[in-house]
Amino acid sequence: MSDAAQSAQTPPTQVCISRKPGGSDALGSPFPSGEAKTACIRTFGCQMNVHDSDRMRRMILDAGYAEVHSYEEADLVILNTCYVRENAVDRVRGHLGELSHLKRKGRLKKVALTGCIGSSDESRDLQHQYGIDLVLGTHNTYELAEFVGLPTMRETYTPDLPGMEGEHSAFVTIMTGCNYQCSYCVVPSVRGRMICRPLDNVVEEVEGLVRSGTGYVTLLGQTVDAWRHEGKRFCDLLEQVANVAPRVWFTTSHPSNMEDRTLRLIGEKGTIVKRLHLPVQSGSDRMLRVMHRGYKAERYRRKIEVFREAVPDGTLSTDIIVGHPGESEEDHEQTLKLVNDCAFDSAYIFKFSPRGGTEAAGLGGTVPPEVVQRRFLEVLRAVEHNAFTRNQRKVGSVEDVYVRHGSTEDGKAIGETWSGHAVHVRADVARPGDYVRVRIDAAGPHVLYAGEPIA
Ligand code: 5AD
Ligand code: SF4
Repeated sequence: MSDAAQSAQTPPTQVCISRKPGGSDALGSPFPSGEAKTACIRTFGCQMNVHDSDRMRRMILDAGYAEVHSYEEADLVILNTCYVRENAVDRVRGHLGELSHLKRKGRLKKVALTGCIGSSDESRDLQHQYGIDLVLGTHNTYELAEFVGLPTMRETYTPDLPGMEGEHSAFVTIMTGCNYQCSYCVVPSVRGRMICRPLDNVVEEVEGLVRSGTGYVTLLGQTVDAWRHEGKRFCDLLEQVANVAPRVWFTTSHPSNMEDRTLRLIGEKGTIVKRLHLPVQSGSDRMLRVMHRGYKAERYRRKIEVFREAVPDGTLSTDIIVGHPGESEEDHEQTLKLVNDCAFDSAYIFKFSPRGGTEAAGLGGTVPPEVVQRRFLEVLRAVEHNAFTRNQRKVGSVEDVYVRHGSTEDGKAIGETWSGHAVHVRADVARPGDYVRVRIDAAGPHVLYAGEPIA
């Protein structure tokens, strides 16, 4: 059993770098001028990292690199990493070992380590041990530009950098960092304090994306609903974006910042996907206090009531940590109760993993692994039971499904309803970015299954 059910951590994603004719062989390139250069970026972790990889891809395109699909074919490999879970470093070590072997054989020339592990104290040891050529944190990714031979880019790690244009869907970062100090979380130390991007700047970017064909915009940030700028709040920003983009979603939110008017806006605006991801972490007030989450379970429940009333056909997902130090059986029972009361449509369930430098890593009251495993399964079963029951209600309905991904291994494409449900549709009728109208034939706990498309 993995450490997280329906984990928010995406599997390593290969970001393909397409060929750009006549790319510059600019000064300072780590490779001799005139040689065809190839690069491969691997992305681990959350959507913020996927977005950072997009930014790095832009730099590499500009530097004239060609796409490769494997480490063996690459001159340059960039590992854009995640630090949220304990085994993340071990996983990256495996890749680094393979890369240093390829380097010794002479094919691979340079390795860069970026992202959250790059920002961490452990990166020095990794650099030394594996002979990494460049280590960058999340705050100075722009230095990659110089490394790949671009003339100095006047970018800094401010959030006002555009997402990829011309794609059917795009991420738009509206804020970076986080001002909370949750006991278990490394994000504040690796991403720094919150920086919010000006509203006009966000809206201009979204307009540009829409002009270039983007049909789906996801607003990104660690706590997007904490966004504020010059007297405006997240709800104002969301409304303006929803006025110009054909389809909008946002992630991730913090219960202390979520305003009722934002929840109502989700129900009112036809262009906002009716899915709320609102991490609760625990159903026990005692644990929420230990975690420094800043709210009680009752406050969370009230938010969910407002959401369910304002968005009756919406979907609700959350994050839950089981086995945080000090979690008692009573605390766990409270979490199970909250899961049943809120009837989540899906949840990312994490076993607590101690992260160096966080408060929770130094706390006593470790929960034995077999207890964590049992609690994990109990929460998982409760979530799946509720999700399955709710998904069953969708059977027979006719839905306009936005196709997010083309064919999967079993020949199905994955789409999303306006209510935020994931749907499997026939791959031959579904191109990413298209809408298909389908009837829902069946439902499982995680996904709906579409029948034949309806003309
Ligand atoms: N252990 C387990 N889960 C964690 N998360 C963050 N840090 C930890 C940790 N140390 C989970 C939280 C967060 C999600 C992105 O990852 O639930 O919301
Ligand atoms: Fe981490 Fe808490 Fe900030 Fe979320 S709100 S990024 S869990 S510190």
